[in-house]
Formats: sequence, C-alpha cells, structure tokens
Amino acid sequence: MVDFIGIERVRELVTRKGIAACIEELAGEIEADYRRWPDFDKSPRHAVHSPVGVIELMPISDGKLYSFKYVNGHPKNTAEGLLTVTAFGVLADVDTGYPLLLSELTLTTALRTAAMSVLAARHMARRDSRVMALIGNGAQSEFQSIAFHHLLGIRELRLYDVDPAATAKLERNLEALNLTGLRVVRCGSAGEAVRGADIVTTVTADKRNAIILTPEMIEPGMHVNAVGGDCPGKTELHGDILARPDARVVVEYEPQSRVEGEVQQMPADFPVIEFAEVVAGRATGRANDREVTIFDSVGFALEDFSALRYVHRLHREDRASRATIDIVPELENPKDLFSLLAERSATVRAASHLRVSA
Ligand SMILES: NC(=O)c1ccc[n+]([C@@H]2O[C@H](COP(=O)([O-])OP(=O)(O)OC[C@H]3O[C@@H](n4cnc5c(N)ncnc54)[C@H](O)[C@@H]3O)[C@@H](O)[C@H]2O)c1
Repeated sequence: MVDFIGIERVRELVTRKGIAACIEELAGEIEADYRRWPDFDKSPRHAVHSPVGVIELMPISDGKLYSFKYVNGHPKNTAEGLLTVTAFGVLADVDTGYPLLLSELTLTTALRTAAMSVLAARHMARRDSRVMALIGNGAQSEFQSIAFHHLLGIRELRLYDVDPAATAKLERNLEALNLTGLRVVRCGSAGEAVRGADIVTTVTADKRNAIILTPEMIEPGMHVNAVGGDCPGKTELHGDILARPDARVVVEYEPQSRVEGEVQQMPADFPVIEFAEVVAGRATGRANDREVTIFDSVGFALEDFSALRYVHRLHREDRASRATIDIVPELENPKDLFSLLAERSATVRAASHLRVSA
C-alpha cells in the first residue's frame, strides 16, 4: 500500500506541530538538500500553457528517492471561486520504482514557498531587517507573513493588494493568530507599502508582465523576495531594477529561471547566482548593507522533494492515523497480474450463473 496524505491529514500534522515550527523544519530540510546540490538529477519543469494558465510537472531525484509535483497556476481562478495554485505530488523509491507516498501539495507548497523565501532572506537580507512590505495578499500571503515574523524577526508588515478584500482577509487571519510584537499596516498603494521597508515580498498573480515594483521604489540595502513572477510572460519587477549596478540576483536553478523568472526580461548572459552556490559558501548572498538583493523565486522541484520527504516522515511517525491508498497491486506472484481480474471475473461469473439458475 502507498502512504496517502490528503488535505485533512496535512491540517492535522501541521496544526499539531505548529505552522511556524513546520516552516522552520522545512527550511532546514530544504537547506540541507541545497547543500548537496550535485547529488540531484535536475531539469527545468515541464510546462503546458493555455491562454489563462499553466499546468506544470516538476520531477527530481537524488538517486535514492524520486519525486514529482503536479501544479497549476491560473490567476483568473479566484474570480470563479477557485484557487490560483493547486498541487499534488508523489515520492517514490528509485530502487524499485514503487511510489511510497501520494500527497496533497497545495497547502504544502504554501509552506515550502514561505520556507524557501525565508531561507533565501537569511542569506541575502540585511541582518537588521525588521520591516517587510507584502504586495499580493492572496493564498500564499499568511504563510509568508508567519515565516518572516517568526523566523526572520520581522516586526512590521506593510500590506497592499489591488483587491482590498484580500488585504482585509490577511489582516483578519493575522489578527486571529495574535502574533506578539507584529504591527500590521494596511497601505493604499504598492509605493506606500514599499517606502522604508527592509524586505519587499511580491506575491501577486497576474498572467502578464506586470510591473509591481518600479525602479524608483527600490532603496539601497533592500532585499526583494520576488515570488509571483514564475512563468514566461508573467513577471513582477521592472527590468531596470534587475539591471541596477548595485543589484545581486539569486535564482534557484538557472536553466529554469532564465525561462520563468524575472530574469527572463534580461539578456542570456545577465549575471545570476544559483542559491546552491550561496549555501555552499562559494558565492555571497549579500556583499554589503547597501546592495539591493533580489531573490528571483520561481519554485524548484528540489523544494518539493524536501517537502514530500518531510511530510512523509511526519505521517509515518504518527502510525495511529496513517492512511494508505491502493494504487499499486500487491500480488503473491508478480508475474500473475491477471489474477486480480481473473479472481474477480470468476466471482462475477459464479454470481451471474447463480442468478440464471435461480
Ligand atoms: N515562486 C514560487 O515558488 C511560488 C509558489 C507558489 C505560488 N507562486 C506564485 O505566487 C503568486 C501568488 O499566489 P497565490 O496562491 O497567493 O495567488 P492568489 O490569486 O491567491 O493571490 C494573488 C493576489 O495578488 C493580487 N494582485 C494581483 N495583481 C496585483 C497588483 N498589481 N498589485 C497588488 N496585488 C495584486 C490579487 O488581487 C490576489 O489577491 C502566483 O503568481 C503564483 O503563481 C510562486
């Protein structure tokens, strides 16, 4: 039987441990995997685009475990009462090729994206960062808020969304969490939110080259956590921000980010640093307090690999309510796959024979 983690199970596992604790542990798992970057068989994700969205497959393996995530991105969905991003994934054993786990990854993606954002910020943002602007207050925004408050020491969150109802929802959710020492400020524009911030997180959804941040908004020393631009033709930053002579741009996996990230706007030889180089200490995430650092995040398969392995461990630790799903046959004779149907057919035949004779 294959382990199964649905939405309810993730809710159970995460609430038991605590959201911030889960994000912290996930960040640790992701960092440990980025440290062994050469172990992974990597490729850019496979994307199928339509005029309104994208469906992507994200495979990766370290030679022992294999994982893939199915994920969509449909910014118009929320107007129809649906999520912009949904996902599920599989963790498998490379030795047998057998799946070990089938898991929801919608909630888990939000957790892992927040974990990755914080992880990058730990290497790239100024250490005295206390104020963060959060542009885009949709599904991912609470996770980003909690992560940056708990794990990076953000004390003031400055919120902006073109949809005031989204900001009101985020405010309500943060208020209910009663996060001590966090001031939440609602702003009337992206410019107002960004002014004076140490960190700027953009997590908007729009299927176009949107310009959420313009060059004059960016102040020396800022760290930009650009999460929402993650597809060809779907970006958030004005290209001149990337082109600043004092800007340092870090990406997850260069071949994928060149196509999907903010750097798709730049020439092919535009300098970027892979995050694995920063983690390994071969490159710096920030050279000085005045540099503008940009984490051009698109989401890479390694982060989902780490997340699947992590939720699988939590799931297995709690044996009592560990669900499984029968998507792989279990046979006495593996060459006799037909026996599964033969036995059933014989029973059905016998039953119909009984009906006929009656
Ligand atoms: N980099 C990653 O790893 C990663 C992971 C998950 C999601 N994403 C991306 O993050 C984005 C947000 O995802 P979500 O699930 O929160 O989507 P969502 O639709 O729930 O929320 C997006 C919010 O952005 C707002 N918005 C749109 N245009 C705006 C603008 N010009 N200014 C301010 N706000 C604006 C919308 O009103 C909405 O509230 C998506 O683009 C998604 O593809 C990236």
